[in-house]
Amino acid sequence: MRRSIARALIRPLALAATVTAIPLGSTPPAVADSVVVGGFPIDVSEAPWTVALASRDLFGGTRAGQFCGAVAIGRSTVVTAAHCLAEEVLGAPPDGLRDLKVIAGRTDLLSGQGQEIAVREIRVNPAYDVTTNSGDFAVLGLAGSLPQSAVVAMAGPGDPAYAPGTEAVVSGWGDTTGAGRYARRLRAARVRVLPDDLCARAYPGGPDGTYRARTMLCAGEPAGGPDGCQGDSGGPLVAEGRLIGLVSWGSGCGRPGLPGVYTRVSEVVRALHPATSARARPSTHA
Ligand code: ARG
Repeated sequence: MRRSIARALIRPLALAATVTAIPLGSTPPAVADSVVVGGFPIDVSEAPWTVALASRDLFGGTRAGQFCGAVAIGRSTVVTAAHCLAEEVLGAPPDGLRDLKVIAGRTDLLSGQGQEIAVREIRVNPAYDVTTNSGDFAVLGLAGSLPQSAVVAMAGPGDPAYAPGTEAVVSGWGDTTGAGRYARRLRAARVRVLPDDLCARAYPGGPDGTYRARTMLCAGEPAGGPDGCQGDSGGPLVAEGRLIGLVSWGSGCGRPGLPGVYTRVSEVVRALHPATSARARPSTHA
């Protein structure tokens, strides 16, 4: 199990990435966590905000360099998991990474469908905590534009889509088995938002992380089954048409009593639009 990936030192940084796609061929994907256990194949048009984070320099060309998911939240902005950019995942600090890109509009990683766009800027959440995994998000600026139709709205603080019981869909190219079988074609799984206390009990603090309801979201099926998995990290959990979570961590994949833990997207909204979300919260003065 790749517990170690969230343990690297991460710092905010800016990066000028130039695209030098050098397929290295046979490097096995040293992928973070994989996609969607208990899921089903989808076409990218059904979840066009799902993009792949890729580096052929680091991970080889066998899966187009895909190693994490990411989500289009603006025409030239995507969000992903902070831990995807950890030195332990990349094998190098991300500022040394010359060919980091997102692949959008592509179902089959090895097809020529869609676009590959270079990542121009990386902003890792300065509040990301590698011990608990709290605040596991990073915002990436792209060198080109995605179609507006690919952009998904984020659910802000107080959005009803965060309510336990809400049906949600997680999508990505990650492990479909929990045993390192990485998908070549995009997949999705249906899960439900679960009560915070379920994850708080499952993850009171251990090597995998500690559940923090303020910054994390608990989702899956109580009996196990559908779940995100290694390689899906940074990818979307969408409910009621809005982005509520980013695949972050879990103990294994799809195991009973061990739900998936997602970055709570309202925290991303707060970080990006502090004034707006402050107004949306109950005033302390009233
Ligand atoms: N940390 C994994 C990654 O880097 C994601 C794990 C998600 N696990 C889960 N059971 N939902 O890709």
